[in-house]
Amino acid sequence: SKSYNITLLPGDGIGPEVISVAKNSLQLVASLEGFGITFEEMPMGGAALDVVGVPLPDETLNSAKQSDATLLGAIGGYKWDNNEKHLKPETGLLQLREGLQVFANLRPATVLPQLVDASTLKKEVAEGVDLMVVRELTGGIYFGKPRGFGTNENAQEIGFNTEVYAAYEIDRIARIAFETARKRRGKLCSVDKANVLEASMLWRKRVTAIASEYPDVELSHMYVDNAAMQLVRNPKQFDTIVTNNIFGDILSDEASMITGSIGMLPSASLGEKGPGLFEPIHGSAPDIAGQDKANPLATMLSAAMLLKYGLGEEKAAQRIEAAVLDTLNRGFRTGDIHSAGQNLVGCKEMGEEVLKSIDSKTPAS
Ligand code: NAD
Ligand code: IPM
Ligand code: MN
Repeated sequence: SKSYNITLLPGDGIGPEVISVAKNSLQLVASLEGFGITFEEMPMGGAALDVVGVPLPDETLNSAKQSDATLLGAIGGYKWDNNEKHLKPETGLLQLREGLQVFANLRPATVLPQLVDASTLKKEVAEGVDLMVVRELTGGIYFGKPRGFGTNENAQEIGFNTEVYAAYEIDRIARIAFETARKRRGKLCSVDKANVLEASMLWRKRVTAIASEYPDVELSHMYVDNAAMQLVRNPKQFDTIVTNNIFGDILSDEASMITGSIGMLPSASLGEKGPGLFEPIHGSAPDIAGQDKANPLATMLSAAMLLKYGLGEEKAAQRIEAAVLDTLNRGFRTGDIHSAGQNLVGCKEMGEEVLKSIDSKTPAS
């Protein structure tokens, strides 16, 4: 029968805690849907630095390339914060994204009815929000050259980076965004800083040009500073947002808080071909690591995205999504989304409750 290979990258901090829970949910829905999964767990980030001496060992990248999909927990931590750049956990993550050529990062932010009260925004502002950030992931200032440290003409130490986009990089992420918007509510907002930055001027020009291929999608443009404001003023105005690497990083963390917690937000990173990378948008949360306090739902929902976008196992994905809702309906909450009268649980117990919900629920077909 059908079987898939999944690379698991637990990483650092809360990464191993949330991955262990998500792994169990993948295993369970696979058995219920009648397919097999073989997991290969590989070192990545600080965990790899400590054992192998590099943040992304060749074996880890090769495993990710050869498997059907990769699920990542999170990387990073105080211990490695002062490492040289090529020995930072974060550098390993950028190498992984580049190595897999996953240039399109889908970050959905949905306010679940069960969690409206967990949002820091007023109920009437937060409820019903359902937006998708399409973040360019393998270009822009994260990868642009020249970059580095040096000295300027006044003998001042400098650090510098380059925001650069080639037309083809904008065109391909724009197409993914238009396709995404078309499957949603048909509205795309491109976020840039075209009033100041040349890279953004080209961005706006190319997105506008690609729009002619999608006459059914309504395109608008917004400057990033205004977009940051509009996201908390009236987030319901957004359907699909497309933006560059760094703006997408920042705006998706902001959007997460509309939904109640960064511990809720999954992501899928996809390329033109080849396996995808799936990860929660949050980091390794060193402040709560090792305390069984992490919210595992972002990673479980990332596992659902893996099943849907990575393997085409839509029904298995729906089983996880339905079980997450059911678990919230039954009142279980980790600390980040907890309020009075609800059942406060840790990472492990939250995972176990979702497994119970998976067992007892058949997805709506
Ligand atoms: P973070 O996302 O790790 O944490 C920010 C805050 O959110 C913390 O208070 C944390 O406790 C909380 N939080 C995050 N995830 C949570 C969860 N699942 N449940 C409950 N609370 C959660 O961001 P940071 O503190 O800026 O970064 C910490 C480290 O993580 C850094 O080394 C950073 O580089 C790294 N990082 C990694 C990734 C990744 O692996 N994809 C993403 C972001 C940050
Ligand atoms: C994320 C993270 C990463 C990013 C870091 C850890 C490299 O913040 O996945 O959002 O900036 O892309
Ligand atoms: Mn981020």
